[in-house]
Amino acid sequence: MIEVMTKVMDFKKFFTKEKEVNDALNTERIPLHIAIIMDGNGRWAQQKQLPRAIGHKSGVEALRDVIETSSSIGVKYLTLYAFSTENWNRPVDEVSTLMKLLVEYLKKEAKELHANNVKINTIGDISRLPEVAQMEIHKAKELTSNNNGLWVNIALNYGGRDELLRGIKKMCSEISMGKLTIGDIDEDLMGNYLDTANTPDPELLIRTSGEYRLSNFLLWQLAYTELWFTNKFWPDFRGSDLIEAIIDYQNRHRRFGKV
Ligand code: IPE
Ligand code: IPE
Ligand code: MG
Repeated sequence: MIEVMTKVMDFKKFFTKEKEVNDALNTERIPLHIAIIMDGNGRWAQQKQLPRAIGHKSGVEALRDVIETSSSIGVKYLTLYAFSTENWNRPVDEVSTLMKLLVEYLKKEAKELHANNVKINTIGDISRLPEVAQMEIHKAKELTSNNNGLWVNIALNYGGRDELLRGIKKMCSEISMGKLTIGDIDEDLMGNYLDTANTPDPELLIRTSGEYRLSNFLLWQLAYTELWFTNKFWPDFRGSDLIEAIIDYQNRHRRFGKV
């Protein structure tokens, strides 16, 4: 309870400190779904002559802040790229550090996320993750399954192409069993065969660390998403940066191919 109270006080402090920024934020037009490519942990550490693992550890702070801010301003879905299908190609030590951090994070934070009505979900093929990670994910999902606040999708062993292939294979097998016909396939149906089924497409994608690419993230879902980039490395990213991105998004004109 005390922890929750401190959090509320932190939010108040944040909102007073960042009053000017928040004045520009239209609270009526908060994106429903924000996706984030949390990039730059390694370079953040390198810059400080620290091991990359410290960069990943520090990234967790940013994560906490962004989840809190998203929840407090009424974002409904937050999809976070934590480990891609390509990240297996990193040195074994780094992969194992990332898996350990994931387990540690869930063990430490699941209860508090639950207390804040956050629902935890994952996208990507988690069957390739270490057993212990799968177990913690399962526990966190179970614990938070009835929450109706912020929905956090953690992308783990996620790749947009892999997700599409898995969805298409499932569709084909259902066609061969007679459960589905080719005529049934349309954009809505395809969406339902992806890991993000029942989630609206993100209105806003944020990528940190000054890289301008998607790196195989949400290839189907980002078709009409607004993109926002910052040079900040992920461990330096805070709720105030998220607000800045949202304000920028709110000042854009989304045309969807119309005039
Ligand atoms: C993002 O930071 C975290 C993961 C990809 C898991 P990086 O580890 O990619 O950091 P840089 O891009 O090498 O600086
Ligand atoms: C994308 O970052 C994946 C995650 C943030 C989890 P990477 O650092 O793996 O992407 P590239 O290699 O720069 O494209
Ligand atoms: Mg990177």
